Amino acid sequence: MKNDDSNIKKTIKYLNNDECVAIPTETVYGLAANAYSKKAVSKIFKLKKRPSNNPLIVHYHNINQLKKDCELNDVFKRLYKKFCPGAISFVLKKKKTSRISRNVTNDSNLVAVRFPSHHLTRKLLKKIDYPLAAPSANISSSISPVSKHDVIDEFGNKIKFVLEGGSSKVGLESTIVNLVGNPNILRLGGIDSKLIYKFIKSSKNKQKGKVNVRMPGSSKLHYSPDIPMRLNAKKNNHGEAFILIKKRKKINKNHFYLSKTKNLREAAKNLYKILRKIKKKGYKKIAVEKIPNIQIGEAINDRLLRASKK
Ligand code: TXA
Ligand code: MG
Repeated sequence: MKNDDSNIKKTIKYLNNDECVAIPTETVYGLAANAYSKKAVSKIFKLKKRPSNNPLIVHYHNINQLKKDCELNDVFKRLYKKFCPGAISFVLKKKKTSRISRNVTNDSNLVAVRFPSHHLTRKLLKKIDYPLAAPSANISSSISPVSKHDVIDEFGNKIKFVLEGGSSKVGLESTIVNLVGNPNILRLGGIDSKLIYKFIKSSKNKQKGKVNVRMPGSSKLHYSPDIPMRLNAKKNNHGEAFILIKKRKKINKNHFYLSKTKNLREAAKNLYKILRKIKKKGYKKIAVEKIPNIQIGEAINDRLLRASKK
């Protein structure tokens, strides 16, 4: 507890000096900087080797902090009440008076925002008077980090500080919901899309005319261990690592379990950890057993599909 408090103090010192630090969230670790500071935000892009046209998610403690920066609508308020803090991000209209740096959103008047539930990051956000821009704390298009160790694996000593917060409980990024124009889901993630659709389908907020919100990060190879991957495999070929979702009778050193009981939450939590492990062990090919495409299994399949694309 005492240690946590002094680590939060240290984190704030770096952030106040326009430095980037890694912070724990329940989805994945983020590489955070003051969202109001152009200088601080530009360091995120540089460290991650991220193209400047790929905007960042801005993290807040609560809705009151957000009011200064975004226009809030009814669907947002309902989703916020139901799911926040938690693994969901919202694309909203930025207020003209907002201080969010233009390089966060690549000059757009739309911004993605989120309220992470991890207790340390909530404590941190409460203590600062600016929100945090934070993409996942990995080099662009590599595997997202779910522990302090993973962050160090990505950046080594190029990163000033990692706020230690254990393993990320969800293990996959937030679900991103666009709430400008016709609401829609831009990225599957930690919160089941079905639950979200219940809210946005009944939305009275629908405006006339389509606003075509794109997600710049979705078009490229992503979340990738950079190893050829075969999905829906029944067995593994010679030399292939085999990712499984339920227990097999035979013990085999090439088997890697997301879960032994088809538990999808457990599988999501383990996915990035296992992909990183397989990469470290030097495998040149990966096979993956079929993952049920329900609940968070949808998001697992989305990441596997992207990771398998050449
Ligand atoms: O769980 C998460 O969302 C994690 C944690 C750290 O909060 N963050 C995360 O950020 O996954 P990142 O940058 O790795 O992925 C954010 C995605 C990118 O693909 C980006 O293109 C999209 O969100 N995005 C950000 N702002 C957007 C906007 N204004 N409109 C549409 N897409 C946006
Ligand atoms: Mg990312």
